Amino acid sequence: MGSAEQGCEALRDGRTWRNYFPKGDLWVFGYGSLIWKPPPHYDQRVPGYINGYVRRFWQASNDHRGTPENPGRVVTVIERDFWETLDDPLAHLESSSTATVWGAAYHIPASHAEEVHDYLDIREINGYTVHYTPFHPVDTSKEPNAEESTPSPIVCMVYIGQPTNPQFLRDLAQRDQQAVAEVISRSQGNSGKNTEYLYLLEKSLDGLGLGSADVHVTDLVRRVKALEGVEAAAAEEAKAERDIEEALHHSAVGSQ
Ligand code: SIN
Repeated sequence: MGSAEQGCEALRDGRTWRNYFPKGDLWVFGYGSLIWKPPPHYDQRVPGYINGYVRRFWQASNDHRGTPENPGRVVTVIERDFWETLDDPLAHLESSSTATVWGAAYHIPASHAEEVHDYLDIREINGYTVHYTPFHPVDTSKEPNAEESTPSPIVCMVYIGQPTNPQFLRDLAQRDQQAVAEVISRSQGNSGKNTEYLYLLEKSLDGLGLGSADVHVTDLVRRVKALEGVEAAAAEEAKAERDIEEALHHSAVGSQ
């Protein structure tokens, strides 16, 4: 444990979050559904990244995007040191030496922190545990090399499907990209189709701005499109774009 940046400490949560947020407010980083489906009551949404992790669709979903009989596939992030010991066929495409995972962080004011923490614990109940790690905010409206001060990292909570969890895909054959694509193309759960989750992730990463695409995600999109057919995929992608716009607009209005 402890391979991510200095200052990162992984703990099972038992209200330990208050140790990380002494003022009582909360920052939570989302790298999956939290990017397009924000938690309630946030007052800031900031694009950026965490280092020291790799995002993979290696988490089985028995609830949101699958069923106990036919689990779907959702993302988790894996600590880089551990990921390096796994036989990942896409390893050669991970160009970043820092293992950067893009996403969005949300600030929850102290008045709602407890409530939102409980909400997230329930939403992420299917195999996720809490880590705390530095989040690097990025102003994507600026040129990458613009002369200006870099915002300081912010400690964030992040929900991780750890490899020790039963939902993590331990079987190498199940982690194969084409096998993951096939499961995604046919799975469905309480929150909707698994393909929808994939396209929402693809589109919301696009929407974050500069350089936030993820090779593992774009490769899966290509494979799932081939399985679904171009027309079905185009309709789902267009819907994903509309849904993200609506979800972020509503939550921003609602959170004001
Ligand atoms: C996250 O979004 O940060 C966790 C994974 C998910 O709920 O998709």
